Amino acid sequence: MKKTLIYALIIVILAILGLLCYVIYSNIQGGKEIDMGDKKILIAYYSYNGNTRAVAEKIQNLTNGDLFEIKPKKEYSKDYNEVVSLAEEEKQKDIRPELVDNGNVKDYDIIFVGTPVWWYTMAGPVKTFLSKNDFSGKIIVPFCTHGGGGASATYTDMQNLAKGATVTEGYTTYEDSAKESEIRAWINKLKL
Ligand SMILES: Cc1cc2nc3c(=O)[nH]c(=O)nc-3n(C[C@H](O)[C@H](O)[C@H](O)COP(=O)(O)O)c2cc1C
Repeated sequence: MKKTLIYALIIVILAILGLLCYVIYSNIQGGKEIDMGDKKILIAYYSYNGNTRAVAEKIQNLTNGDLFEIKPKKEYSKDYNEVVSLAEEEKQKDIRPELVDNGNVKDYDIIFVGTPVWWYTMAGPVKTFLSKNDFSGKIIVPFCTHGGGGASATYTDMQNLAKGATVTEGYTTYEDSAKESEIRAWINKLKL
């Protein structure tokens, strides 16, 4: 009788330990969505080489928001050096390239906006996206990937273009080094 009780106790303790491990593991390792309440989430991004797209997809997995790829009507050349000089000209002349689709932020409360850093600020297509939509009263959650120079003026320039929006702290990462755990911690910290 005593033995049976001890066995039962051991089984209960093991079950509780197993459950505890599972909860800790799923919180650390991710895979679990962040509860965003009933807020409507859009994740809009432009990516030339895929680094920013990878971050956008991680955010989408965590928030279950809608993904929107910002695409210029005229695709940038595959030649990196050509893009670098064209982007410099776009920046100097404040050219905002036409988009395939300007998108629509009307139905969303929170809009994640992602860009590679181009010449110390956001890429031209993202400028177009911000200037073609009305962001009054919206929350913009910015993120960017860069090649070593950091976000530079990206987030302040976003705030200047999206008048009336609240621009939160951004997630800034080098090339393709984004980690889901970092992104999760950043979103949780924002308490959206
Ligand atoms: C036209 C152009 C301009 C760039 N300017 C910068 C810059 O000012 N600072 C920086 O750190 N990286 C710069 N980079 C590097 C990119 O920001 C970096 O590789 C980024 O992760 C690319 O993102 P993507 O793969 O989503 O296109 C530039 C890259 C290009 C193509």
